[in-house]
Amino acid sequence: ATSRRGSLFSVKASSVPSTAEDLKIRTIPTKPVEGQKTGTSGLRKKVKVFQEGNYLANWIQALFNSLPPEDYKDGVLALGGDGRYFNQEAAQIIIKIAAGNGVGKILIGRDGIMSTPAVSAVIRKRKANGGFIMSASHNPGGPENDWGIKFNYSSGQPAPESITDKIYGNTLSISEIKIADIPDVDLSSVGVISYGNFTVEVVDPVSDYLELMENVFDFQLIKDLFSRPDFRFIFDAMHAVTGAYAKPIFVDRLGASPDCISNGVPLEDFGQGHPDPNLTYAKDLVKIMYANDAPDFGAASDGDGDRNMILGRGFFITPSDSVAIIAANAQAAIPYFKDGPKGLARSMPTSGALDRVASRLNLPFFEVPTGWKFFGNLMDAGKLSICGEESFGTGSDHIREKDGIWAVLAWFSIIAYRNKDKKIGEKLISVADIAKEHWATYGRNFFSRYDYEECESEGANKMMAYLRDVISKTKSGEKYGNYTLQFADDFSYTDPVDGSVASKQGLRFVFTDGSRIIYRLSGTGSAGATIRIYIEQFEPDASKHDVDAQTALKPLIDLALSISKLRDFTGREKPTVIT
Ligand code: G6P
Ligand code: ZN
Repeated sequence: ATSRRGSLFSVKASSVPSTAEDLKIRTIPTKPVEGQKTGTSGLRKKVKVFQEGNYLANWIQALFNSLPPEDYKDGVLALGGDGRYFNQEAAQIIIKIAAGNGVGKILIGRDGIMSTPAVSAVIRKRKANGGFIMSASHNPGGPENDWGIKFNYSSGQPAPESITDKIYGNTLSISEIKIADIPDVDLSSVGVISYGNFTVEVVDPVSDYLELMENVFDFQLIKDLFSRPDFRFIFDAMHAVTGAYAKPIFVDRLGASPDCISNGVPLEDFGQGHPDPNLTYAKDLVKIMYANDAPDFGAASDGDGDRNMILGRGFFITPSDSVAIIAANAQAAIPYFKDGPKGLARSMPTSGALDRVASRLNLPFFEVPTGWKFFGNLMDAGKLSICGEESFGTGSDHIREKDGIWAVLAWFSIIAYRNKDKKIGEKLISVADIAKEHWATYGRNFFSRYDYEECESEGANKMMAYLRDVISKTKSGEKYGNYTLQFADDFSYTDPVDGSVASKQGLRFVFTDGSRIIYRLSGTGSAGATIRIYIEQFEPDASKHDVDAQTALKPLIDLALSISKLRDFTGREKPTVIT
């Protein structure tokens, strides 16, 4: 692949030096570019923005300017991506700037492919200093759509805000880029290539990750489930990165039939889809799972493979329920947790279903702000094993990212474990049975999220400011329709491990019956503002568990819209996505 940067970033193979003394580093003058502040999960912008001038190169150089030299000089960095448009070109730029800054080795997935969880696994297994992930996660890909970059640290977790703030600071004063004069590296086959002291190793993107999964799960248990004629599943890779993982793991290793996988080939534009596994964007899968002849189990994963959606036959498992159900069954069904989980955690807007599991199993429990990075410290401190977020993220301390394939394997394990003594012909315990049984034991936390995407920033910000003002005047005990306010606040979190404080993490109205309304602005969008409203209500009475969530939550949803005056501030009548 030749670079659009042309002469700036590519050199012809013939001019390439081959010894260490020869590795030629050039210093290119540059100027700061605006708008390089990272959001919830790295830097995400339209592809066109990244293609402009030194936009990407500036950010990468600013990153090296922000890290202590011992964190990368002569060190190893992983580099992966979700296969989206611009990754090939970006990989070459990142490799050259890494070499220019004295990195010793880049470990890159074949074709630049490696899922976010696999990058985390590779960093940990190979004891790398960190790694880059080229992805805008679930945002659409292609020339007109999004690109993104994230940086993870040596334990495999997303870089903390202290680092990303520093990077941003450095983007504002950057004046030069250090770049090695090496040719574009051929990423199409596994192998090692060195230029002086700098090495690029192209690795199989699946093998380290697969080995980890084999250690976490009882693969024989899952294999036995897959070999049953009365169990069928479908996994939708949404033409994104898990396409590269699904066949080697589910088919080649666990014996599933190849037609269990749909949209299994990663494409640069994700087949023009929106690779976000939810009820709106994974509509092909939803259609299959709600049809008369639906398989027993359905799942999907997002662009970079860290999100997941779990479905039974005609049955949606909310992410909040999914993590609770996994936690409740983990010790029995998953060898990695055979001594029981150390602790459980969820993000603030995620429903309280997990809290109930923690309290029954007597486990330490944590509520953190939105963003997977907040789980890392707890895991490193040995306080946390299983965690999840309402935003379709579920995972554990096997790595430091949420993990879509892991979540699917966890569900396979639970289904397999619950049915392992069933004879062929006996009715299997279904996904829906498992969920309903869970609710009967723990109660049901009805939950829904309303998203208003690409609102005008001004209106969205005004609405949040208005709500802050409302909150400042609330008093405990006030009536809101049939609900009585317990408290309202702007969520703030103090990390119990390092004492760092994250404030303004979401506006919450918590009522005396445990119901909650939460308002947040998304930190992952790339255009305008996305308002999220999270609505939750607890129902202990099993006779009321079969009600549709939208019906059960209607009064709270109406209340959420009236408290916020959302329609007035945004002009929106309806959400763009409901999950
Ligand atoms: C990314 C992060 C998640 C987080 C989500 C929130 O996916 O990895 O940990 O929950 O963003 O996104 P939002 O758009 O709500 O800020
Ligand atoms: Zn993702």
